[in-house]
Amino acid sequence: MDSARGARARMVDALRRDGRLRSEAVARAMGEVPRHLFLPESTVETAYADAAVVTKHAGGVAVSSASQPSMVAIMLEQLDLRPGQRVLEIGAGTGYNAALMAHLVGPEGSVTSVDIDDDLVVSAAAHLEAAGSGDVTLVVADGAAGHPPGAPYDRIVLTVGSADVRPEWVGQLAPGGRLLLPLRVRGSQVSVAFDLGGDGVLRSSSVRACAFIRLRGIGAGPDAAVTLGAGWTADPVVDHTAVEGNGAGDLSTSLRAALGLPGAERELGIRLSPADVWDGLGLWLSLAEPSTVRLVARDDAAGSAAADGFVDVGGARVALVLPGPTGGFAAIVQDPDGGPARVRDHGAPGPGPAEVLAALVEGWVAAGRPQAADLRIRARPRDASVSVGPGEVTVELGSTTLAVTMTTLG
Ligand SMILES: C[S@@+](CC[C@H](N)C(=O)[O-])C[C@H]1O[C@@H](n2cnc3c(N)ncnc32)[C@H](O)[C@@H]1O
Repeated sequence: MDSARGARARMVDALRRDGRLRSEAVARAMGEVPRHLFLPESTVETAYADAAVVTKHAGGVAVSSASQPSMVAIMLEQLDLRPGQRVLEIGAGTGYNAALMAHLVGPEGSVTSVDIDDDLVVSAAAHLEAAGSGDVTLVVADGAAGHPPGAPYDRIVLTVGSADVRPEWVGQLAPGGRLLLPLRVRGSQVSVAFDLGGDGVLRSSSVRACAFIRLRGIGAGPDAAVTLGAGWTADPVVDHTAVEGNGAGDLSTSLRAALGLPGAERELGIRLSPADVWDGLGLWLSLAEPSTVRLVARDDAAGSAAADGFVDVGGARVALVLPGPTGGFAAIVQDPDGGPARVRDHGAPGPGPAEVLAALVEGWVAAGRPQAADLRIRARPRDASVSVGPGEVTVELGSTTLAVTMTTLG
């Protein structure tokens, strides 16, 4: 027990030092709620390490986990819970986050947590009881519909990734309430805290990069990644029929054929971090030029000559790619030793995607190299009209239109 207390104190100290924990209230909750009791099959060391712990697989895919403590802290800070508030969580998992939220809203508040899998709800109930956090209402349901019996809620939080902002969630928020969710925006996943205005518009108050397991059930979004062959995937930013309609034919065939055709390269004069590739420049390009894709090489493909210069991102090797209108593509690559980034033509005939990519990179640098945290997002139902301000890009989700800006300037 003492070793658990010590490990928990070290976890909290590290989260404070790294700036993940900012408020005393969240630090106290994470210092008091015994995370190891929500992971009874893990060692104390694993339970308090700064890593997600997968607790359930289905068909070889992780479908439930206790989220990484850093991410738990970031999202609780984004949520800004106050004593007495009513909270709905979608994605009960182990019950750990629900216990932290129950600590934060206190006995005057209420926490309802929904999971789609009944076995997970049964085990979450046992964990909550063992930890002495019995004041959480657990429900087996598809959280895509929210949980109408407990509405309205001051806060609704998803701890599972969504490709849409569903009207059910917005409809169950109290006036001025906050919806926090890991949202897929043009190939990136970002944790967005939205505040509901009196005009029915959701406005982001903070955005952070994140990587969550995806929603299952009726709200599961389409799988946007396209398999190109063993180890190769392309994560299309939008609808790749836009590229196909341009005469390039099937996107996967055209990318695969062009991979073996390296051409001219030009330096871009910048160096890119893994975060830049996925959520900084990657997001910027996808907002500015929707046919951009993230070309990802894994396993044997990662070591192949075709992935030469791709950037290591979480164990995969990634290049930002713009398909040409009549075949081929241009890719942004960088040597692993940290040399300057370059644009490489892969069989794209004539001037085209390489010029477009280089100009877009210049725009990103001029804007101060913005990252996911620099996104500002307004969200409205698709059937309501959205006025688009200067510099805003519209992104259509299943039931919602986003108006998005990304800049560190102004
Ligand atoms: C990352 S885990 C949540 C971690 C959890 N908050 C904790 O503290 O342990 C995501 C959870 O979302 C659940 N989930 C997936 N789709 C769902 C849906 N449509 N409705 C409710 N829960 C869902 C999964 O079963 C999984 O337990």
